[in-house]
Amino acid sequence: MKKYEKVFREDYERWHRENEAYRERVAADPRRLAFHLMPETGWLNDPNGLCQFHGEYHIYYQYTPFEPTGELKLWGHYSTRDFLTYVRHEPVLFPDQDFDAHGVYSGSALAEGDVLHCFYTGNVKYFDRPDYDYIMTGRGSNTVHVTSRDGENFSEKKVVLTNADYPEDMSGHVRDPKVFKGSDGAYHMVLGARDKESRGLVLFYESADLEHWVYRGRLSTKNPFGYMWECPDVFCLDGQLLLVCCPQGVPRRGLDFWNVHQCTYMKLTADRQTGACSVDEADIRMLDRGFDFYAPQTFLDEQGRRILIGWMGIPDADYGNPTVDAGWQHALTIPRELSFSKGRLIQKPLRELGALRSGCRIYEDLAGLCAESGIVYEAELTFTECLRMEMKLREGVSLRYEGGHGEGGILTLDLGEKGAGRKERPVRLDGLRGLQVFSDTSSLEIFVNGGEEVFTTRVYGQKGGMEVAGACAGRAVVYDLKSFSYAEPDEKTGLGDACRRNGSDGSEKNQKNT
Ligand code: FRU
Repeated sequence: MKKYEKVFREDYERWHRENEAYRERVAADPRRLAFHLMPETGWLNDPNGLCQFHGEYHIYYQYTPFEPTGELKLWGHYSTRDFLTYVRHEPVLFPDQDFDAHGVYSGSALAEGDVLHCFYTGNVKYFDRPDYDYIMTGRGSNTVHVTSRDGENFSEKKVVLTNADYPEDMSGHVRDPKVFKGSDGAYHMVLGARDKESRGLVLFYESADLEHWVYRGRLSTKNPFGYMWECPDVFCLDGQLLLVCCPQGVPRRGLDFWNVHQCTYMKLTADRQTGACSVDEADIRMLDRGFDFYAPQTFLDEQGRRILIGWMGIPDADYGNPTVDAGWQHALTIPRELSFSKGRLIQKPLRELGALRSGCRIYEDLAGLCAESGIVYEAELTFTECLRMEMKLREGVSLRYEGGHGEGGILTLDLGEKGAGRKERPVRLDGLRGLQVFSDTSSLEIFVNGGEEVFTTRVYGQKGGMEVAGACAGRAVVYDLKSFSYAEPDEKTGLGDACRRNGSDGSEKNQKNT
């Protein structure tokens, strides 16, 4: 595929037929993850369109199947009913129109009755002049609406907003629509943006019919906080209105913001009279402390859980992933359930993942623990006291806690030589009470103190061995973990495929909801 040429479904299907050997090469890589979603080949970034629709969870994602460095963005698609067994579907959206020719970029889904509405950014780069900088000029960011009745076949694409509709002081970078229904019954959309003075912000739109959108205002900080805010998500959690977004261009501050781009959550206050929101600027917090976490998205499932999945990667980092040599790169995080307590966002691994546990070993005495673990495991550590601790997670990789800094201490993840350029990431804690570590073949997700802090990172090195030492006491439980299973698309999806093969694009042009 050529970088700046449209990709049609037929191009992909032809390419797919011709690339079985590529798929086999990727599948044979020992660094393929056991319980994380990955691109079958090539590149993956943001989770998109997360939703539960008629009982089934849909996980779309930014996908470049053709090569591992991520040039042309499609929407890939997984579905699952239990977060354990997944169906890998064909991509659903291709950059095949003038208004999305250079990327079907990130967006969201909203299930309304029998119709799934998806919104995404159609990315366009113009080449008619030599002097475009592609920031202030030369870039089109179209907000596009598509619908589906099965999550697999989508309607004709409809542009609902173009750059001309965004406020005049916006740069060309406006993207990542997240759409939700308010308690007032109106539909709301937030878009991430960079203004002409290179300040990051969020734009708010409102609609009564999901087609006509009216600008309702913006949200930013009084003091600039980065030049661009990507992937905004606004939701109310346990009584607190929150904005999760990814500010770019925020300098390191103390132990915070060490990554090239940030993923933050901000508490919002809505003005009772005007409804306008403001950010509690003094309290912008990091969602994750690891090297590889970006562009998360949340959704409410049918049980009312606020579930988050993130991209276990980050753009523009000065460290990489050696899996590129095997023809693939990146993965999604495990799904996490969110809650809000005592001013903090709490992340907990989704309880369904408990079914991956197989062998279980209990260590009643933490200090001095030496476990015969491989590299795919879950470990739960509960501390009754901890002044100092060093936990070896696998060969060459450790978590160190040093108490005595004021009231609490500092917990540091150290990847040594196993991080492919990733070294150390710290967090200050008010004490170390618990750790829940999910270790996969080439990733770590570490939930600290019941999910008050999380470290998400890729890691390389195939040799296991877990040890705990130091001035600490407590208990540990270590589990082996089974892999995700993959099922074939069910009959319904099969019909959709047959429908496309028979020449229809599965479009719903004639349905009144589109
Ligand atoms: C975030 C992001 C989004 C954009 C997408 C393109 O990682 O840059 O802002 O829509 O990736 O793949």
